[in-house]
Amino acid sequence: MPNSKTNPTVKKENILNTIKGYQEGTDRMLSRAKVGTDKSELKGKVTSEVAKLHPKRLLLTVKEIIHETPSTKTFRMVSNTQTLPPFQAGQYINLFTDIDGVETARPYAISSCSTQRGYYDLTVKIVDGGFVTGYLLGNNITVGQQFNASSPMGSFYHNPLFHGNDLVFFAGGSGGAPARSMISHILNRKIKANYHLVYCNSFENDVIFRDEFRAMAAKHDNFTLTEIISQPTENHVGLTGHLNKELISEILTDVNNKTFYVCGPTPYNEFCRTELKSLGVQNKNIRIECNGPPKKPSCMPEWPANISEVDEVKVTIIGRGEYTAKTGEPLLNSLERNGYTIENACRSGECSLCRVKVLKGDVFNPPDTRLRKSDKQFGWVHSCVAFPTSDIEILY
Ligand SMILES: Cc1cc2nc3c(=O)[nH]c(=O)nc-3n(C[C@H](O)[C@H](O)[C@H](O)COP(=O)(O)OP(=O)(O)OC[C@H]3O[C@@H](n4cnc5c(N)ncnc54)[C@H](O)[C@@H]3O)c2cc1C
Ligand code: FES
Repeated sequence: MPNSKTNPTVKKENILNTIKGYQEGTDRMLSRAKVGTDKSELKGKVTSEVAKLHPKRLLLTVKEIIHETPSTKTFRMVSNTQTLPPFQAGQYINLFTDIDGVETARPYAISSCSTQRGYYDLTVKIVDGGFVTGYLLGNNITVGQQFNASSPMGSFYHNPLFHGNDLVFFAGGSGGAPARSMISHILNRKIKANYHLVYCNSFENDVIFRDEFRAMAAKHDNFTLTEIISQPTENHVGLTGHLNKELISEILTDVNNKTFYVCGPTPYNEFCRTELKSLGVQNKNIRIECNGPPKKPSCMPEWPANISEVDEVKVTIIGRGEYTAKTGEPLLNSLERNGYTIENACRSGECSLCRVKVLKGDVFNPPDTRLRKSDKQFGWVHSCVAFPTSDIEILY
């Protein structure tokens, strides 16, 4: 019989066996080793299984086009080749388009419920002078047309561990799209959470999903809806004006212990953040969805004086060519318009996929662009939100 005093291995085994779960864990490891499922062998398989669930690119076909309001259509997209990847309600896909030879993309939130994966609804609202919305909503799209898109992505979704169960969504205009997905997810999954949607729109005939939201609010005690119209007609009945701190206090009575999701045009998002903070809501309880590059960069702090958004500058891509661009247009957009494609996803300065290196010249980066210290040091910019304010030379 081996003695622990003379045999150190026996002593160690005895001690390990007193640890709860040690024996079960050891048995499990041994049985896995027997059938050859150790982690290193699975490495390649895991990657390929993940790639099947979350492919880099999707081929989507328009199955149906739904006219929501005078300014908005929903494109119901299906996949012929595979089941659509799962997504978190609130996430978006980046939709690639080829418009008159210009290859570009725009992110759109999936507005359908994440509990079904038969289709993704993309709900698109027209933007004045918008390149892609002009194309998508301008009667160019037909049922059966195909588009490439990214897999679902983004961090704007309900995380029950961190966000609690008292949830408020401030939606403006097309912000109704992720709101619809998140709310139907919570109601369909019967998640124990209270959900309050405050939906702000300019005109009463332009409220996306209005009847659907009203029906959900009538049916579910844990979902309440407040509608606000900023430019009402004479006959309008209901709340009017802009969502400010007085109105927020009136609607919610108490802002404590709530998580706020904010999604609408960038100025709306920023205004909501300011008003919530002035009511004492902490930053960690305010989740804001990005909404593309700033529409009026020249109105932002630190935009150089004496430079107008229509001033023209020369953009040189080292070793590849050059073109003329307006300072008010995001660099990524003008690159694409001139035939230079760059990987991109959020088009809001967050994911860093579209980085280019500026070798010479000045570029305006909006203050909240997520540039790293080293990016600033070595001249990298996120081209989707970078505006050239002088002749520049870039590398990518
Ligand atoms: C994560 C995310 C999710 C989104 N989800 C949705 C959604 O569900 N539904 C939805 O409708 N939208 C959504 N958007 C917005 C969407 O991605 C597009 O930004 C929007 O559709 C406008 O695209 P566009 O090509 O029509 O406009 P763009 O052509 O990109 O123009 C945008 C604005 O910039 C101005 N502009 C363009 N070029 C210039 C220039 N050279 N000089 C000065 N100004 C210029 C235009 O006049 C316009 O006001 C989302 C955005 C993000 C980031
Ligand atoms: S595309 Fe995400 S940072 Fe530019």
